[in-house]
Amino acid sequence: MKISDEKRQLLKLYRDSSLAEKLKIYARIIFNFDQIKKHLDNFIPAEGNVLDWGCGYGIFANYLRLKNPKLNVVGFDISKVRIEEANKTTPLLGVKFTSDPSEIKFDSFKLVLLIDVLLFLPVDEKKSLLKTIYTSLEKGGIVFIKDTLKSESLRFKWTKFEESLKLKFGVYGKNVKSGLHYIEVDELTGILEGIRYEIVDVIPETHIIYPGVFVIARK
Ligand SMILES: C[S@@+](CC[C@H](N)C(=O)[O-])C[C@H]1O[C@@H](n2cnc3c(N)ncnc32)[C@H](O)[C@@H]1O
Repeated sequence: MKISDEKRQLLKLYRDSSLAEKLKIYARIIFNFDQIKKHLDNFIPAEGNVLDWGCGYGIFANYLRLKNPKLNVVGFDISKVRIEEANKTTPLLGVKFTSDPSEIKFDSFKLVLLIDVLLFLPVDEKKSLLKTIYTSLEKGGIVFIKDTLKSESLRFKWTKFEESLKLKFGVYGKNVKSGLHYIEVDELTGILEGIRYEIVDVIPETHIIYPGVFVIARK
C-alpha cells in the first residue's frame, strides 16, 4: 500500500504518542483517511475558523491546518486520553484541542466537522448540537458530517456490533460512556432542513466493511 506524503506528515505528528494509542492513530490514518479526505478536500476554506467536534486524536483538525496554515482550527472531544494525545501535536501545528466544551468559542465558523461522532449522541443532543453549530456558522459556512448509513445490511450489523464492543472495552477512553444512536440518513437530512440548513450533498461511502455516509450542509 502506497503511503502518500500527506499521510506521512500526519503519521509524523504522532511520533510521541503512547504505543497503545499510536496503533489506533496509525490505523485510522492508514486505513480510513483517504475516503474522508477525498470529500473533505472540496470544503476546505481559504481562511477563517474551523471546529472539529468529536475530533478524537485530532487527525482531521491537523490535516486541515496542514493543508491550509491560514486556518484557525479547534478540536473538541470528550475523550481525555484522545485529547491528551492530540495536545502533543499542538506545538507542531498550532491546533488547539480541548475536552472541555466551555472552552469552545462558538462563533463565526467557516467549517465544522462531525466525523463519525453523531452516532454517539441521542437524537435530542444531535438536534441541539446541530442548532448550536448553525448559529455559530458564518453565512455560507459548511457542516461536514460523516455518519454510519443505517440499514438492514450485514455491513451495518457488523459495524454496530464492532462499535458496541469498542464502547464496552473503553477503546475511546474510560471516561467515554456514550451509547449508540444510529439514525437513517433521511432523518438526519430532515433534522438539518428543519434547522434551515441547505443540503449540499449526500454521498454514501464505498468502504468494503463500513457503511458510511457523508452529509454536507450549508448555512
Ligand atoms: C470514531 S471516533 C472519530 C474521531 C475523529 N472524528 C476521527 O474521525 O478520527 C469517535 C469519537 O467520538 C467521541 N465521542 C463519543 N461520544 C461522544 C460524545 N457524547 N460527545 C463527544 N464526543 C464523543 C469519541 O471519544 C471518539 O473520539
